[in-house]
Amino acid sequence: MPMIKGKAVEAIVFDAYGTLFDVHAAVMHHATELGALAQPVSDLWRAKQLEYTWIRTLSGRYAPFWQLTEEALDYALRTLAPVHLGLRGRVLEAYRDLDAYPDVDKSLADLRATGLKIAILSNGDSTMLERAVAASGLGDAFDALISVDEIKAYKTTPDAYRLVEQHLGIKPEATAFVSSNRWDIAGASIAGFHSLWLNRAGRVDEYADMAPAAVIVQLGDIVRN
Ligand code: LAC
Repeated sequence: MPMIKGKAVEAIVFDAYGTLFDVHAAVMHHATELGALAQPVSDLWRAKQLEYTWIRTLSGRYAPFWQLTEEALDYALRTLAPVHLGLRGRVLEAYRDLDAYPDVDKSLADLRATGLKIAILSNGDSTMLERAVAASGLGDAFDALISVDEIKAYKTTPDAYRLVEQHLGIKPEATAFVSSNRWDIAGASIAGFHSLWLNRAGRVDEYADMAPAAVIVQLGDIVRN
């Protein structure tokens, strides 16, 4: 079995949004029109999108991730940039075909060469995932695209992480899980995965009792043991 950051594993599973796909790329395509509002709009959009997943899971009122993505963008534009509401459609189109980070293609190819099974576990629904993966030319990179839509509840509910074993037939102890979202790493760690926090932005650590097994700063670090 290949060694990933000190542990022999059979599979490696990635979060999608923020980890493989740059969630800020959609707004940044319209940065000229939004000017100094571009980053605040993108940040509020992402924060609200995630808040909606947690509130809906806690309340037992699931709605698809695409709907929450639209509602969160509406909130962010109305709050910070109401004169730019006309961008809504174009920004959403850009989110559908979101850019992968530049190091994704090479890193996945290196991991595939080790013989590991490779999958995505995401809050995104299957249509979103298939389109984002195809738009980035990563169609052949994954053994499985796993969406929490199957259980109608979002990460970090433990049931979401159990989907990985159900789809791949590999135990959490033999699975590495990579996410740039520290809250997602908290959920993955308590679910028993060998969790790798991809801390590209140098963020301060959180959730001390739900710690990652390792911290990396770029995807290429995964294969550099
Ligand atoms: C994902 C988002 C939440 O699950 O990052 O892909």
